[in-house]
Order: sequence, then C-alpha cells, then structure tokens
Amino acid sequence: MDTRTFGRLDWRVSPLGYGMWGLANWAGTDAEEVQRALDASVAAGVNFFDTAWGYGRGASERILGALVRRHPGQRLYTATKIPPKNLQWPSRPEFTLDDCFPPDHIRAFAEKSLANLGLERVDLLQFHVWEDGWARDERWQRAMDDLRREGLIGGVGVSVNRWEPTNCLETLRTGAVDAVQVIYNIFDQAPEDELFAACAALGVAVIARVPFDEGSLAGQVRADSTFPEGDFRRIYFGPENLGPTVARVDALQAELPEGHSLAELALRFCISDARVSTVIPGMRRAAHVRANVAAVERGALDAAAMGRLRVHRWDRRPAAWSL
Ligand SMILES: NC(=O)c1ccc[n+]([C@@H]2O[C@H](COP(=O)([O-])OP(=O)(O)OC[C@H]3O[C@@H](n4cnc5c(N)ncnc54)[C@H](OP(=O)(O)O)[C@@H]3O)[C@@H](O)[C@H]2O)c1
Repeated sequence: MDTRTFGRLDWRVSPLGYGMWGLANWAGTDAEEVQRALDASVAAGVNFFDTAWGYGRGASERILGALVRRHPGQRLYTATKIPPKNLQWPSRPEFTLDDCFPPDHIRAFAEKSLANLGLERVDLLQFHVWEDGWARDERWQRAMDDLRREGLIGGVGVSVNRWEPTNCLETLRTGAVDAVQVIYNIFDQAPEDELFAACAALGVAVIARVPFDEGSLAGQVRADSTFPEGDFRRIYFGPENLGPTVARVDALQAELPEGHSLAELALRFCISDARVSTVIPGMRRAAHVRANVAAVERGALDAAAMGRLRVHRWDRRPAAWSL
C-alpha cells in the first residue's frame, strides 16, 4: 500500500488505518477473528492504529499492544486517547478544562494507557473530546509538552466532537497540536469547508474517522436493523436517525456505478482529498479488512464521481443521541 505524510510529524502512514473501537466492547465481537483481521491488515501494509482508553476501559489498548508485539519487525504507529475526567462524551461548551483534562488527569491517563499498551511510548496521544474554548489554557499544552520531552508520546492530537469540525480551529493555531481526528464521510463533508485548509496551512495531520457513518455507508443498516442493549449503535440508529439514514443510503445505492459497492465508494471518497493522511474504519472481520484494503488500493475517485457524491452531503447538528 502507498503511504501518505502525517502532517509535520512527517510519519509515513498507510491511507487505510484501523479504527479499534468495536474490537473490545461491541456485542458479537469474536476475539480470534479480531486477531485475524488485525494481522491481515498488517500483512497488507496498514500501519496506523487508533484506539482509546475508553474503548473497553483499556481492553482495546491491550489488543493494540499485543499486535505491536506480534509484529516486532514492522513500524506500526499507535494512537490512543485520554478520556475526559468527567467521562462524558461529547463535551459541552460549558465544561471546563478542569472538568475534562486537568494536568494531573492527563499525566495519569498517559501512564495508564502506556501500561495497557505495554509500550514505553505511544506515537500519538489524543484528547477524546474537545472544546476550542480551552485553546489558550497553557496547562494542557505544558502537560503534553512534558510527556513529549520525556519521550512518552510522539505527538499530540485532538479528536473533535461529532458534527463540530470547527470546534478546534483556535487550538490548532496554538501550534501545540499535530493531528486532528474528525468525522468525514459522504454524508459528513463539512470538514472540507474550513478544517482541512487550516490543517494543511499549519502542518496538522487529518485522521478521517467514521467513514461508514457507523455502518450505514457500508450497507450494514436497514429499516428493520436492531442492535443489542449496550451497543452504541442502538442509540445512534434510534428512531430519530434510522429512517432518514436509510432513505439517504437507498438514494445512494440507487445510483451506484456497476461493479462498485457502497463501502468501496465510501472509503475512496475519504482518501480522495489529499489533505487526509489516513482513514480509520472500524473492522472486526478479516473479510472487511481485505475489502477495505482493495478499495483503498483502487485509489482516489475521479472528479465526476466525487461530484455525484457531493450532492449527498448531509449537515446535521449534535443531538442527545449523536454522542
Ligand atoms: N470520539 C472519537 O474519537 C471517536 C468516535 C467514534 C469513532 N472513533 C474512531 O473511528 C473508528 C471508526 O469508527 P466506527 O468504527 O465507529 O465506524 P465506521 O468505521 O463508520 O463503521 C464501522 C462499521 O463498518 C463495518 N464495516 C467495515 N468495513 C466494512 C466493509 N468493507 N463492508 C461492510 N461493512 C464494513 C464494520 O463492521 P465489523 O465491525 O463487523 O467489521 C462496523 O460495523 C473507531 O473504530 C474509532 O477508532 C473515534
């Protein structure tokens, strides 16, 4: 697989990365199949892995650490996230830095994550929620600088809240952030409006997350889909969102070019913008890894195909169910 530059950190990362949320705590996850999927991705050249303490309270981080140890000869980039101290996703504008990321909490969770990973250093440490109002508070900057100086982290990232792609622009201008993780897919195109240009100007890497809109853009969600208790998708694809989502997916399916799946187009949409360093679909099955590797290897979509997908843009506002 080709590689792309990861902003000013200058890492060479695979355009297909790996989202590790579902691996540890989604219902119906098969641990052996997860291991096969992860190993298949490494064999295909995937080298960027995104996890978080919040994914199973360290369970997904332990899976990533084991993967790194199983492949000692490969340079695998590890990214994890510090949970907000109040454990509320997403943050809200009235939350303070002390509610979410006071310096002692940053330090404590960096150490917890390293212990879960079983590594001496994590490449990218991200904030799992963010409010741009915290941008100029130097306490988080100093806490992250210290971790970097001590060699415990390679870079600093911010994972912006769903449907709030500009809620980090002032933060990027501080120069203290190396990467932004943002929802970007055929529906959620708003990061193109301002965020991507700001990242390009400042040398900040873009990690595109949720390329399949949690599965709908992979053709996995139907009008009669149900999800088990405790599965996040039960909330996301609840009564307010399921019907409108399925209607929009049907409209996309109706105009799919011959020989292409919706999942393939959804992934290629994300890598068609050269300002995206890597896209990180969640994958719990080796078959999905193989399909997604093949899709990304087909490369960017042409301008005509992108034009047809642009009309499916769907701007949404954060809601109680959107997490
Ligand atoms: N706040 C944050 O920072 C935050 C929030 C959400 C997500 N994330 C990150 O972003 C990653 C991606 O998001 P996500 O996993 O929530 O959603 P997603 O990538 O949009 O969708 C994942 C779903 O797509 C399915 N899938 C993957 N490849 C497929 C294919 N080729 N054909 C059909 N179905 C396919 C997966 O199935 P299987 O699982 O069965 O393979 C899974 O159900 C997460 O894993 C996490 O690392 C971060």
